[in-house]
Amino acid sequence: MSSSEITSLVAQSPPDPLPKSGIEEWSLSKTMTFLNHGSFGARPHAVVDAQLRLKQQLDGDPADILWVRGDELLIDSTRKLADFIKSDPTDLVSVVNATQAINAVVRSLELKPGQNIIATNHGYFAVNQTLRYVAERAGAHLRLVELNPPLPDESGLADALEAAIDEDTALVMIDHVTSPTALLFPVEDIVKRCHSRGVKVMVDGAHAPGMLPLDVASIGADYYTGNLHKWVSAPLGAAFLHVQPCHHSSVHPSSISHYLGDGYQEEFKWTGTCDTSSFLSAPAAIAWFEDRFGWASVREHNCQLVSWATGRLCDAWSVDPLDVPPSSRAISMRTIELPKSIRDHFQQVEDWRLWLRHAHGIDIAVHDWVDRWWIRLSAHVYNRPEHYEQLIKVGLTF
Ligand SMILES: Cc1ncc(COP(=O)(O)O)c(C=O)c1O
Repeated sequence: MSSSEITSLVAQSPPDPLPKSGIEEWSLSKTMTFLNHGSFGARPHAVVDAQLRLKQQLDGDPADILWVRGDELLIDSTRKLADFIKSDPTDLVSVVNATQAINAVVRSLELKPGQNIIATNHGYFAVNQTLRYVAERAGAHLRLVELNPPLPDESGLADALEAAIDEDTALVMIDHVTSPTALLFPVEDIVKRCHSRGVKVMVDGAHAPGMLPLDVASIGADYYTGNLHKWVSAPLGAAFLHVQPCHHSSVHPSSISHYLGDGYQEEFKWTGTCDTSSFLSAPAAIAWFEDRFGWASVREHNCQLVSWATGRLCDAWSVDPLDVPPSSRAISMRTIELPKSIRDHFQQVEDWRLWLRHAHGIDIAVHDWVDRWWIRLSAHVYNRPEHYEQLIKVGLTF
């Protein structure tokens, strides 16, 4: 099933849980109700154990894992990741997180005064900060395209971005799945339009691997990054950068190290001594989901659960989800506007979030976006309808 076929499922009732998917299979605290997979992910015991075994080998004989077999292990993990995200392994490098990948790419651009970088007001704050910093240091600037509710359909989103391009545009940075709004951008269309105007594109796919059936090569972006510690549930600190061959020689890691000048993959393979076990354990996470449930079933389950939970919560609290056309909805996250009563009671939306954690042990992502307060519901295989019912029951009882 394609991502838009999955997201068009409208769930009236919650899906049956997948077998052997419960919280007891996961390292999550049993005293928390975790509705926030999107922020930092979560890991099943099997993945934590796989990493632990590797860490023990690493600490037992650091030179073996980091040096003697370092290349062989990295190549093996990269190949397995390439199969999963459908890319050529020679275009992939391992990074610690999407932030590091984005910094590597934009700090490698040779921006000229007067140029611009285009991004949107749905972008992750840290990413837009990076773009602003890099642009301003070069005398260029960040042009933020405001896409406010009511949101246009897919082609309207692409039209708005295309309209912002001019002859001074050096890069368009676009999210695959947005953080505050759980919106799916039509990245293939955007890449085509940008390329027809001679403009490079970076896709911030921090949320995409695992959530979407990803085909990085066919998206065709100049640069694509994805986190593996979110929806793939790999250990924290596992991510990748994909760069098209024509740009290999011009992209360098932000930490220059031994292999400067030796080629794209060589430069990124060593950016200083670090614990490589997160990326090397990512294939264990990919395989765990595939062997136990099949990735397609995971996506279908998560989409139905979040769609049901959104309907249920909006009904109970008399609130509305961010109005996103079905084909632009993220598979396993939804953004819902919070009722005015929360705004009347708390100074900042984060205060409500902390209150929920401390008073009720519920963790959920919140955003203050376009001067309105929102929650972002996540659904993964360990979530059950009662988790959302708990939020519905206590969320307004302050
Ligand atoms: C859209 C998006 N981009 C980038 C990031 C940054 O990811 P990281 O902190 O792993 O670098 C996030 C984190 O949540 C995100 O949601």
